[in-house]
Amino acid sequence: MKKIAIITGASSGMGWDFAKELDNKNLDEIWIVARRKELLEKLASELKTRCKIFDIDLTDSEKNKKIELELEKKEYEIKYLINNAGFGLMGEFSTLNLNKQLNMIDLNIRALVQVTYFSIKFMSKSGEIIQVASTAGFLPMKNFAVYAASKAFVVNFTNALALELKPKGIHAIAVCPGPVKTEFFDVATNGKEPVFIYESIKVVKKALKDSKKAKLNSIYGFLMNVVMTLAHFTPRRIKVSLSAKSL
Ligand SMILES: NC(=O)c1ccc[n+]([C@@H]2O[C@H](COP(=O)([O-])OP(=O)(O)OC[C@H]3O[C@@H](n4cnc5c(N)ncnc54)[C@H](OP(=O)(O)O)[C@@H]3O)[C@@H](O)[C@H]2O)c1
Repeated sequence: MKKIAIITGASSGMGWDFAKELDNKNLDEIWIVARRKELLEKLASELKTRCKIFDIDLTDSEKNKKIELELEKKEYEIKYLINNAGFGLMGEFSTLNLNKQLNMIDLNIRALVQVTYFSIKFMSKSGEIIQVASTAGFLPMKNFAVYAASKAFVVNFTNALALELKPKGIHAIAVCPGPVKTEFFDVATNGKEPVFIYESIKVVKKALKDSKKAKLNSIYGFLMNVVMTLAHFTPRRIKVSLSAKSL
C-alpha cells in the first residue's frame, strides 16, 4: 500500500505550506487538490515527493468523486487528510451575493464532509485528519456571519469525529487560525488585510505538531489563545455584543 497525504486547497496559502511541510514525512505520494492547475503543477515541481494533481472544483460533488475513484483502486493508505480549501466573504449577509454565500457553504462544509466521509475507510491506523476551521468558528461574527457559522460547523464536526475515530487510532483536529497572510483576504475583502496578521508557515507547523500530540484544536499565537480562552468563559450575550463592535 502506498502511504499518501491528501491536501485540499493546496494551490496557495496554508495548503501550499502543508504540502511543503509534508514533503519530508516519507510519504509515497501527496495528492494536491484545487482549481488552479498551473499552481498545483508548480507546487508539484518544487516537492521531492511524487504528487498527484486533482484540478477540480470541490463544490462540484461529481468532480470530488475523482478522488474517491482513485482511492477505490485500494492501492493507497491515507496518513494525512488535510481539508484546508475554504473561503470567506466579509460584508452584511443581506447585501452579499446569495449564490456566493451558498457556494461558501458548499466548499467550507459540504465538500469537507464529503471528502472526509469517503476518505475515512482508507485512513491508516495512525492516520491524522486535519480540518482547517478558524477562530471565527468560536464566535458569532457580524459582517462575517455565514463564514463564521461555517467554521463553527467545522470545529464541532471535527471534535465529534475525534471521539468517534479514537477507537480506530485515527486522530481528527480542528485548526483554528486567527488572521493569516495568504490569498484569503484577496477573496474576503478585496485585499484589505488586518493590521495584525500571522505567517502561514508558523500556523501550519503548529497544526502538524498539535495533531501529533492528539490535541482537539490547534490555535496559533499567544493573543489568539487569550482571545479564545476569554471567548470560552464569556457569556454568549456579551460575546454577541462584542462581535457587533469588532468588524
Ligand atoms: N487566511 C486567514 O486569515 C484564515 C484564517 C482562518 C482560517 N482560514 C482558513 O484557512 C483555509 C485556507 O485558506 P488560506 O488562508 O490559505 O487562503 P487561500 O490562500 O485563499 O487558499 C484557499 C485555497 O482553497 C482553494 N479553493 C478555493 N475554492 C475552491 C474550490 N471551489 N475548489 C477547490 N479548491 C478551492 C484555493 O485554490 P483555487 O483557487 O486554485 O481553487 C486555495 O488553494 C481556508 O479554509 C480558510 O477559511 C484562513
